[in-house]
Amino acid sequence: MAVSEFDRRMMAAAIRYTYRHLGRTGTNPSVATILVRDVDGMPVIVGRGLTAIGGRPHAETEAIEEAGDLAAGSTAYVTLEPCAHHGSTPPCADALVSAGISRVVAATTDPDGRVSGLGYKILEDGGIEVETDVLAPAAMKAMAGYLTQRRFARPHVTLKLALSQDGKIGRKGSGQVPITDPLSNHVSHLLRATSDVIAIGINTALEDDPSLTCRLPGLENRSPIRLVLDRELRLPPDSALARSARDYPVIIATTKPPDDERYRQLTQAGCQMLACEETENGIALPEMLEDLCGKGIMTVIVEGGAAVAQAFLEAGLVDRIRLYIGPEAIGEDGIAAPLSPEIMPAGFVKTAAARFGPDWRFEYERSE
Ligand SMILES: NC(=O)c1ccc[n+]([C@@H]2O[C@H](COP(=O)([O-])OP(=O)(O)OC[C@H]3O[C@@H](n4cnc5c(N)ncnc54)[C@H](OP(=O)(O)O)[C@@H]3O)[C@@H](O)[C@H]2O)c1
Repeated sequence: MAVSEFDRRMMAAAIRYTYRHLGRTGTNPSVATILVRDVDGMPVIVGRGLTAIGGRPHAETEAIEEAGDLAAGSTAYVTLEPCAHHGSTPPCADALVSAGISRVVAATTDPDGRVSGLGYKILEDGGIEVETDVLAPAAMKAMAGYLTQRRFARPHVTLKLALSQDGKIGRKGSGQVPITDPLSNHVSHLLRATSDVIAIGINTALEDDPSLTCRLPGLENRSPIRLVLDRELRLPPDSALARSARDYPVIIATTKPPDDERYRQLTQAGCQMLACEETENGIALPEMLEDLCGKGIMTVIVEGGAAVAQAFLEAGLVDRIRLYIGPEAIGEDGIAAPLSPEIMPAGFVKTAAARFGPDWRFEYERSE
């Protein structure tokens, strides 16, 4: 059977559903399954499943359980190839065969060597008709953290910056300079709600004293881990970050040893220390990202300032750039942004543009 418009609609719904648990499934990707079958001549969704918070159970078994007897004979829309290996649970591909699913429509093949292609093989050997690569780009975008982690052994990195009309990101000594509309700020908090870590340089922490939490009503508990690049441990124990470290985790990437007095004060405040290597410009970024990957971190937002943004770009460690451009100029004394829509590092292509109130948002992705 060919892939139909209805198949694409169901897959689009499944991909949208994955966003609900993005950033909450540990080292597993947030995957969705939707089971659809004919009931009285009409297609009906009989089961839905999403990778559970923490990563288990998987989406397929959740959907099968919800559908009960109606699972047999249904079509399963899966955003990732069903797993084929015995981990802490039996393979989901086997579960789909046992449930009597007649057709599987999948968006992406799992790059994990224990699964890649083997999940589809189990399904086909079990007599299930399989369609692959349906809406693959959209599913890959939703799963970018997992895919980057598998390919490069590091988290997916989004550089997010707000620029004034004249290409500035702030003014030295002025703290947080308002650049964008509250609407843009709300939208950028949605990214926080679906990311594992938000990282800033120590100068931003000292200048702005930000909290970096997600402040969308009802989504406060989706705040990412806050990370400060701070070789010398200059973060004050009474900063907004340190004061809230027991409510929302704070990691400080540092080169200071545990017997340092500030190390002791910050740890006592609830901050976690990440022992890092350094280069002449600061924390060694590839190694830091590798360590974060080892802790199960799949997505990082880098939210500046200029020095840290530049360092991530120069190291080739940025996968996506989100630029918000506000309507006002800051002026000559502003801090210049390391990039702008006119000066984009090589290898990035514009993939989206949107307006939020008076602001523009441009998105760029690294091309292969
Ligand atoms: N508009 C926006 O989107 C936006 C976003 C964030 C910040 N800002 C503004 O940006 C300004 C601060 O920017 P900034 O450029 O002065 O400082 P920054 O990027 O916030 O911090 C730079 C500091 O981070 C530390 N660091 C550790 N490892 C590093 C590495 N690998 N590469 C670079 N730095 C590293 C260094 O201090 P040590 O050597 O002591 O470790 C360095 O001096 C503030 O005014 C803030 O308001 C604007």
